[in-house]
Amino acid sequence: MKKLLLYVICSLISVSQLFADEGMWIPLLLKNHTIADMQKNGFKLTADDIYNINQASTKDAIVIFGRGCTGELVSDQGLLLTNHHCGYGQIQRHSSIEKDYLTNGFWAMSKAEELPNPGLSVTFLVRIEDVTKQALEGVSSSMSQTEKYKKIADNNREIESKAIAGTNHTASVRSFYYGNEYYMFVYEEFKDVRLVGAPPSSIGKFGGDTDNWMWPRHTGDFSVFRIYANKENQPADYSPDNVPYKPKKFLNVSMKGVNEGDFTWVIGYPGGTEQYLTSDAIKLVSEVRNPHKIKLRDKRLEVMNAYANVNDTIRIKYASKNAGVSNSWKRWIGEINGLKRLDAVNKKIAFENEFTNWAANKPNYNGLLKEFNKNYTDIESYALAYDYWREAVYGIEVIAYASGFEKLIEISKGTDSSLALAESTRLLKVSSNFFKDYDLRVDKDIFKALLPMYFAGVNEEFYPSIYSKIQSKYNGDFDKYVEQVFEETIFNKPEKLEKLLSNYSANRVGELKNDPIYVLYNSFLDVYKDKVSEKYFAISAKNDSLYNIYMNALREMQPQKKFYPDANFTMRVAYGKVKGYYPKDGVKYLHYTTLDGVIEKDNPAIYDYDIPNRLREIYKQKDYGVYAKDGSVPLCFIATNHTTGGNSGSPVLDAYGNLIGLNFDRAWEGIASDMMYDPDFSRNVTLDIRYVLFIIDKYAGAKHLVDEMVIVK
Ligand code: ARG
Ligand code: ASP
Repeated sequence: MKKLLLYVICSLISVSQLFADEGMWIPLLLKNHTIADMQKNGFKLTADDIYNINQASTKDAIVIFGRGCTGELVSDQGLLLTNHHCGYGQIQRHSSIEKDYLTNGFWAMSKAEELPNPGLSVTFLVRIEDVTKQALEGVSSSMSQTEKYKKIADNNREIESKAIAGTNHTASVRSFYYGNEYYMFVYEEFKDVRLVGAPPSSIGKFGGDTDNWMWPRHTGDFSVFRIYANKENQPADYSPDNVPYKPKKFLNVSMKGVNEGDFTWVIGYPGGTEQYLTSDAIKLVSEVRNPHKIKLRDKRLEVMNAYANVNDTIRIKYASKNAGVSNSWKRWIGEINGLKRLDAVNKKIAFENEFTNWAANKPNYNGLLKEFNKNYTDIESYALAYDYWREAVYGIEVIAYASGFEKLIEISKGTDSSLALAESTRLLKVSSNFFKDYDLRVDKDIFKALLPMYFAGVNEEFYPSIYSKIQSKYNGDFDKYVEQVFEETIFNKPEKLEKLLSNYSANRVGELKNDPIYVLYNSFLDVYKDKVSEKYFAISAKNDSLYNIYMNALREMQPQKKFYPDANFTMRVAYGKVKGYYPKDGVKYLHYTTLDGVIEKDNPAIYDYDIPNRLREIYKQKDYGVYAKDGSVPLCFIATNHTTGGNSGSPVLDAYGNLIGLNFDRAWEGIASDMMYDPDFSRNVTLDIRYVLFIIDKYAGAKHLVDEMVIVK
């Protein structure tokens, strides 16, 4: 009876109470309450050690890597670690059949061999400022939503430009708690970032998409880069004269490893979470939107994989795209499972009932949930059409590519021929990148599969006008239609297209505009513009303004609860403990894996599990050097840190701020943490730093890189 009572109490408070391990905290605000809790759980440093603008602190060793990952500095010569899957695009771009770094790995044995990466940059956080007051200045409750947004946007632009005047910095004011608070982030960007090393994919992506999002895991998911600066140690475009950047701060590396229960923390750039969604939102995502998106990607993956399995050229060309398509596809599946197991919709409903009671006599709040409900009902068909536009229409590469010509076609109407010239020159550059990784057979098969799925998936009101033509002229035979337009279009013919672009003049615009692929794209675009986007974004905006009020209400209703803002790709700190979990009845997962597990999975017949001979050799010889632990090499570990996409490459640190691993994933059963964190299942997956050093030193023979680091034994 007592137990039952306890259970009832626990489940009642579970949605409203925060678990110790849940949360992604703003570094500027750690002093408010977070740091005390971190210290209570074992953290040995202070808030100033993490974030301080007057002296070097951990935040100065952390960067945004590229557009969606995190990286960290590990030497006084600008040496940087991130994940293999974060550096994947760069590694792939340097790869060809002859120099296949994806397959064989790449190691610069001296700085002269490090490879520049045009377009890649890393970004340091200079400072954070609370600018809520300034951002909301002049905003009043009598304004319409549009007026409010405009006023805030104007305010923010002014705040940003003032903040960076006379510097080489950039600034970005971001909304938190659905526009209840605003913080400015000032950044410094470095553009000369060179590839130093990457293990073969059979190590860095060991287990591939089969093991992705899963535990137990054996993926050596790291790559090594170096930041270069000019002679004054300032950011500069690539130049052979640039020198290794001297960071304000770099992380020491600990070889001590982890035990279950150890305190760990993560600092990095989680991309986006939606912790405060209503039950209707969760229903829409998990019962409608995700299932459709999954179905569309099932198809794309089926086609890509069928070709990649039998054709190495296609495998390399499509490696990066395939990984991207597969990654979210699998996460969506895991999310649906997790939300179901958590009974998330009903938990939210139970909480919303409490909320409704509490709000009963509060006029600002009492109608909120009804309004949400109406909006989520209204938005459904538009949301689906929106998803099909992004996943089906844009999933066809030749259409996505043709969409990039919109601007040139528009400009060609005007009289200024220099504009058209500049745009066609730009497109010429884009073109070689596109065709380098393009295969006609793959795209045509995907085209044939996705086009009919669009018409089966959306309401008839979202059919483009071209639909009737396909019906009448091709008797509704999509295959025939696709064959024909594929034959006729210029957008899949590099020589013809490049010839047109290099001698472009506006009087040839018809060749682009009347191209059957462009006509098809345009037909979809009309639907998207006229019938989908306006409605979709208008209702979304209505919801945003409701969430703005709801968030306020939640904080008022639960004054003792510590709320954290949803992730929005700004720097955050998460902390937790090393901990295994029980994935299903009768099964306990340990908190760590070792090299032995790689050997267990090793299978030359399966692409994802075919390890390099050299690794087999090292295993046979047990040549583990200082990286050995209990007769093997530690590989990955899991902990309860609350992380999400964008945290990849983030340092996982011990209580003293030493680097103990690289965050790269989450475990399958707890992936729904973007919407609902589950202390029993939500785990971040970390690559043990000892495996990184082992591969660099023993596998690659690049010990000089390890020697650059400061190792704490
Ligand atoms: N799931 C991890 C993350 O979201 C790793 C993705 C890369 N790996 C892959 N097999 N696609 O980024
Ligand atoms: N693998 C993800 C990333 O790339 C991390 C995650 O979603 O947990 O950021």
